[in-house]
Amino acid sequence: MRETDMLNRRLFIVGLMVTFAGCASAANAVVVHVYKTATCGCCAEWVVHLRSHGFEVLVKDVEDVTPVAEQLGVPSNLRSCHTALVSGYFVEGHVPSADIRKLLKEKPKAIGIAVPGMPAGSPGMDLVGQSEAYNTMLVDRRGGVRLFVAHSGNRS
Ligand code: CU
Ligand code: CU
Repeated sequence: MRETDMLNRRLFIVGLMVTFAGCASAANAVVVHVYKTATCGCCAEWVVHLRSHGFEVLVKDVEDVTPVAEQLGVPSNLRSCHTALVSGYFVEGHVPSADIRKLLKEKPKAIGIAVPGMPAGSPGMDLVGQSEAYNTMLVDRRGGVRLFVAHSGNRS
């Protein structure tokens, strides 16, 4: 991303936090801000997954998640059904809670992580009984993408 884009991204994140300023949050839980559409069932399932793994989740239903993903710098080929923000990182798609913990622990020089598409067996997409292999990708500020965590499935 260019410097101006990075600045815009920072201002956008500040704006998002203000949107949620009215919401009180518990002192210790990590807060994840989730942007999704009101009708997205798998998005709601992902929120349940995060909550059951100790995250405090604040949900914002929006008409279209694309502008949020764009502002946060999520590459268009890594997009999914929802976008979240945690500690200044974007979390795009059905990312497992353990990968978010790893992100928060390692604090890599990056702007976010993403599970592109909606792989069967990923958290929130786990109602089908089968799972496919998928990867959680790490995105740096220049748009560089590399593997963050590989997840194996039970189906080849
Ligand atoms: Cu989904
Ligand atoms: Cu979703």
